[in-house]
Amino acid sequence: MKLFVANWKMHKTRGPARDFAAELGRSIGDGIAGAELVLAPAFTALDAARDERGRWRLACQNVAAETEGAFTGEVSAAMAADAGCRYAIVGHSERRRLFGEDGPVLAKKIERCREAGMTPIYCIGETAEERDASLTAITLVRQLDALIADAPSRPLVVAYEPVWAIGAGRSATPADCAAARVHIAEILSPRQSLRILYGGSVTPENARELLEISRMDGLLIGGASLSAASFEAIARA
Ligand code: PGA
Repeated sequence: MKLFVANWKMHKTRGPARDFAAELGRSIGDGIAGAELVLAPAFTALDAARDERGRWRLACQNVAAETEGAFTGEVSAAMAADAGCRYAIVGHSERRRLFGEDGPVLAKKIERCREAGMTPIYCIGETAEERDASLTAITLVRQLDALIADAPSRPLVVAYEPVWAIGAGRSATPADCAAARVHIAEILSPRQSLRILYGGSVTPENARELLEISRMDGLLIGGASLSAASFEAIARA
């Protein structure tokens, strides 16, 4: 079973989310064989993106590092789980870069996900500068440090998203992905239930090759997940 996660980022109010869900529901029928589908809308559109028939699951794009309390504007993991989320994206490069989230904060977010019964989709990936300086491997090790306190028996999804490939119109090569997959699997080797995804400029055109050659367990899709037709085409690839 391959996992396909649609990361809508800060797109879609409830109307467009409902339209997307209706279109996807119509076109996939009973679902896509061999594919687990997950939609990650904004918190406000979770309800609108839900599938009553359970053909796809919901993820949130972020959770608070704290459990509850005086944290104006934050949404806790328990709240997201209560709103129907099975998964939570944690540590997306936009959160790291634009909101200053670092390893210790992300470790707390992962712990909050566990307490709430959600599976984290933990994002890692090197910047262009790190890649040029041959620091990819070291960067991934450092970012995976946030999982040190996380019990290896818990199901985990790690998304390898090189920062230079996100929204760039140019994905990593399948060979890059294959190398990253092996490296990540090695670092996390005692893990019992680990799925490794690739993300960064995935399209219906490159999805098949990326999956086949890299042997990734699925894809995390940004821009190309905003249309139901293209998200479906990727999942069918
Ligand atoms: P992209 O985004 O598919 O638009 O490159 C991927 C992501 O940021 O998760």
